[in-house]
Amino acid sequence: MLFRALPHNSRIKKTEPIRGSRVSRARTPATHEQPTDVRLGRIVRLLMEHATVVVSGTKIAEEISSNRSEVWRLVQQLRGLGVDVAGHPATGYQLMAVPDLLLPEILGPLLRGTIFDTKVHHFYKIGSTNTAAMAAAAEGAEEGSVFLAEEQTAGRGRGANSWESERSAGLYCSVVLRPALPPSEVLVLALAAGLGVRAAIKQVDGRVTADLKWPNDVLIGGKKVCGILTEMNAEATRVRYIVVGIGINVNHSTFPKEIESEAISLRMATGSEWSRVEVAAALLKSLDREYRSLVEQPGAQQSILQRFAEQSSWVRGKQVRVEENGSRVEGTTEGLDERGFLRVHTAQGLRTVLSGTVRENKQLAISS
Ligand code: BTN
Repeated sequence: MLFRALPHNSRIKKTEPIRGSRVSRARTPATHEQPTDVRLGRIVRLLMEHATVVVSGTKIAEEISSNRSEVWRLVQQLRGLGVDVAGHPATGYQLMAVPDLLLPEILGPLLRGTIFDTKVHHFYKIGSTNTAAMAAAAEGAEEGSVFLAEEQTAGRGRGANSWESERSAGLYCSVVLRPALPPSEVLVLALAAGLGVRAAIKQVDGRVTADLKWPNDVLIGGKKVCGILTEMNAEATRVRYIVVGIGINVNHSTFPKEIESEAISLRMATGSEWSRVEVAAALLKSLDREYRSLVEQPGAQQSILQRFAEQSSWVRGKQVRVEENGSRVEGTTEGLDERGFLRVHTAQGLRTVLSGTVRENKQLAISS
């Protein structure tokens, strides 16, 4: 938990995004979109470090190498984003609540010791964090680079689907990984990401036990709370880089009509708001654990497959229908094979499903 002394602004106001006039160029991988003005994060950090006192405009101006009127302008921008800052240039400023913004200055300290430490890139508004992460990886972004956005205007799901990305309601996160794995083993990494999401949710609220639907959905009460989109650039025998994109519905209170019967948020599931900062920190820590063990420990692959099977109600004994590229497989799930593919017992015999959308086959379930 962050700064218990301060209440948490768990929801930032819906205002126009702020684009940075000055951005960090040193460590920011090239993308075609502007990351958040780093001075906003620095001001928040400074106010958090002096949470119980009023900080003068002059001190803040020194901190960001600027002047008091620029500080006032930036504080106004922060307020526009829902950050609760009291005061004005004559009196100084004080933070009244910890903002639930995924700024590197807020999230970064919670990621010490992980592969993501000091590699958080934040955007108020972006097309897709996966697209940005793939572009950055192509230009050499280092392993562990994280792309987070408050809002996506072209969030992408698996297949041709889009991903509903309401501003500051969800977690929209993509990480760049460079594992020394053959492309055939990447599915296991994607399954490990699902385990990481499930563990993160449980860590933040122990009452919530999510289900895993092969290959990449996380469900609560049968509805989707998280989707994972894994993309890679690889040669025949070697992965160059992988981007794991994770969308978690955190504080949504409604969804568009087309998905409302299938989607759920953590807030809907529990009846109270969640801190996206806490969810993001727990997520990145558990991804770090899963990823390190996968690339460092012999036998980790086996453990991932076993845990996925244990933690998913879909992997064994579920009546399913799987559709992929016009072909359809119907039957009862019979576990995962050694590469993580789903085995389905059908009327024609055992089939191995390589990808596709798995749905519960209610007709089969009733008639059997
Ligand atoms: C799915 O279930 O279809 C996968 C959804 C993945 C959504 C996330 S949100 C962050 C990242 N950026 C994207 O454009 N997509 C992924």
